Amino acid sequence: MRGTFIVIDGGDGTGTTSMTAYLASVFGDCAIRTREPGGSPLAEKIRAVILDPLAKHADSRVMVGLFAAARLDHVLNVIRPALDKGLHVFCDRFDSSTYAYQVRGAKRHDLAHEVHGQREWLLDLRAMPDHYIILDGDPRVCLMRAKKRAEKAGEVPNHFDEQTFEYHDAVRKGFKDFVMTRPHTIVNAEEPEDIVRAKVLAVVQKVIAQW
Ligand code: TMP
Repeated sequence: MRGTFIVIDGGDGTGTTSMTAYLASVFGDCAIRTREPGGSPLAEKIRAVILDPLAKHADSRVMVGLFAAARLDHVLNVIRPALDKGLHVFCDRFDSSTYAYQVRGAKRHDLAHEVHGQREWLLDLRAMPDHYIILDGDPRVCLMRAKKRAEKAGEVPNHFDEQTFEYHDAVRKGFKDFVMTRPHTIVNAEEPEDIVRAKVLAVVQKVIAQW
């Protein structure tokens, strides 16, 4: 039986990466944890290009193309094979991020059809996410939290970390609008981490049980 494909997405600092790691630890050998941009060897190379300072001023359409190329390789080489083996896939970000950041954050509504169009090939490849979990919180709260966490871990900020609150507010709204027409759950990421984890785990267990 095909595994379940669950995307964990949300604005910067909402905790998508630690949530994905948590879910993978709960499901052990029954699941894989992966991420975007990246997830396959070639897509990780594309990730490095996306995060390079050279990409800071690239046109949003160029960025959508880079994310799409990375996504297709990731789906073909990692997500699809895992689902075929019956493994659940927990993916840290996916097409919901492209819509939220490159269309809504960047105010490029002309590119919306390009992102929505990816649905076609995802359906063809039987790799449409079965459920989106959006971690939702005020960027003023979440970004501060992320900054502290990154400083502690000694991480170097990238050009995505330099955006304004106005941009992040638009991204936040973009996530909610994108998932409106897809199976989804929105979880308040401002609550204490153990509560957010419990809520997300309950959603995942329900989705998998219904699958
Ligand atoms: P990460 O910090 O979650 O690994 O992702 C790096 C940045 O890439 C993050 O700020 C969100 C951004 N991003 C997009 O702008 N579009 C996308 O399609 C994806 C997957 C990520």
